[in-house]
Amino acid sequence: MTLIAQITDLHIRPRGLACYRVSETNMLAERAVAALNALAPQPDAVVVTGDLADAPDEREYAGVQRILSRIKAPVFVIPGNHDSPAMMRDLLTGVGPIDQGSDSKVHYAVDIGDVRLVALDSSVPGKPHGELGSAQLAWLEHTLAESDRPTLIAIHHPPAATGIAHMDRIGLKDSDALAALLSRNSHVERIMCGHIHRTIIASVGGTVMTLAPSTGHQVHLDIADREPGRFIMEPPGFFLHHHTRGSGVVSHLAYIEAFPGPFPFFADEGVSW
Ligand SMILES: [Fe+2]
Repeated sequence: MTLIAQITDLHIRPRGLACYRVSETNMLAERAVAALNALAPQPDAVVVTGDLADAPDEREYAGVQRILSRIKAPVFVIPGNHDSPAMMRDLLTGVGPIDQGSDSKVHYAVDIGDVRLVALDSSVPGKPHGELGSAQLAWLEHTLAESDRPTLIAIHHPPAATGIAHMDRIGLKDSDALAALLSRNSHVERIMCGHIHRTIIASVGGTVMTLAPSTGHQVHLDIADREPGRFIMEPPGFFLHHHTRGSGVVSHLAYIEAFPGPFPFFADEGVSW
């Protein structure tokens, strides 16, 4: 069994500042880390699918480093559109081989238990939309051909339109090329994404895309394109991707907040199930 936990869109701010003056993302990320560290069994890895920082500077990445270093499991990160890949390389340690990559993109592949993690960089400097680019797509094609291990791809921007129009307008520009590539690689069992700040599941290139909620604020559910982008303090969460040889990857959404329970199931006297 291999367990991969995924958190996303931490949007860490300089100490004492809330995100958009409302979302206490630093405190909420600390809660996410506490939830991850309380998991039993512990995950084999924690993957952070981008937007580690909010308006990236040294103060925010100092916070990212401080918070992620408290995670007990090995940590792997990729950039989102709110990140600076260059600052991540300069200022973060112990978060995967982010110094690799032949170009300005942060991409790498690592084996974790029985699965392989392929980490992609969809960030475009100074832009909110995503793009992998032809060089990274060529690297991905080569990398997927190297191994037929069950593979999970981490990418910040989802390679599917979600129906939330203001977010789709800042989506992944070369999603069709990625989907075509995936359709030729059936050992890719999951695409793990962020960016939209909601739980979303879709089919892409013959595999399953799961998009995790943010550890902080969520994007308001508006699939009618009736409003400008807004956020809402719905429950933050994370995904636990559970791989077994018999079932492949099964993904569980888990919440970070504490709720009443768990309680035992039992039948009242005279009642049978
Ligand atoms: Fe985000």
